[in-house]
Amino acid sequence: MNILILTGAGISAESGLGTFRDSDGIWTRFDLEEVATPEGFERDPAKVHDFYNARRRNVLAAKPNDAHLALARLEQSRKHNVTIVTQNIDDLHERAGSRNILHMHGEILRALCHNCGVKWDAPGEMSPYDRCPDCNTAYTRPDVVWFGEIPYHLDEIRDLLDETDLFVAIGTSGEVHPASSFVQLAAMAGASTLELNLDPSETTIFFTESRRGPATQIVPAWVNEVIGSTAS
Ligand code: OAD
Repeated sequence: MNILILTGAGISAESGLGTFRDSDGIWTRFDLEEVATPEGFERDPAKVHDFYNARRRNVLAAKPNDAHLALARLEQSRKHNVTIVTQNIDDLHERAGSRNILHMHGEILRALCHNCGVKWDAPGEMSPYDRCPDCNTAYTRPDVVWFGEIPYHLDEIRDLLDETDLFVAIGTSGEVHPASSFVQLAAMAGASTLELNLDPSETTIFFTESRRGPATQIVPAWVNEVIGSTAS
């Protein structure tokens, strides 16, 4: 069976990384127009770097939780073809042991030259004075997708949505396009669809089945069902 899993900030919440739209979410404390758009970066690159430097520090201090570990166990069981499409810019799926991962919103631990497009491992702290290792221009940014930019891997994701037997969304509010449309695309292509989330998302009505609870509980329970194991 092909299983396509979309993850969002909710899967990393219990690792201590904030979500965006919950009551204490990142977008209640920061103006996304200022820190997560190309226009905000043009106006004040230092402010944008400060925002992502703080988030990079948080990611480096965080550890994968039982939900990340369960998804890695699902992939490693080799009973199914498992692909994770994540909106998260952290590396907690990788550190949990998952290998088949597409970061549609980029990766906080990578840097991108806004001038020539070269990418490299980001230093712990980035600044507007950093120079590109390739073209030497001081116009570097975290390799994350901002509002108004096109997410990564969309062609590949559309092919996966066409071929998947089961689409599972975990810890995402369904408020951000295009990820919010994936459940309907998967359903139209004939897949079963399952939502694992703390609260009903904006797209709950499109799922065949929804289960509520913290990711560290409901994701391992679901994985155990799928691979037929009672191990935690
Ligand atoms: P949101 O903050 O919009 O939604 C997080 C979802 O996770 C909510 O539906 C919560 O109910 C749920 N949740 C919270 N804690 C949970 C837990 N412990 N277990 C399970 N679910 C939990 O985050 P995303 O949907 O990931 O994009 O946001 C999508 C995109 O919007 C992000 O990738 C980011 C943001 O702006 C960019 O920055 C481009």
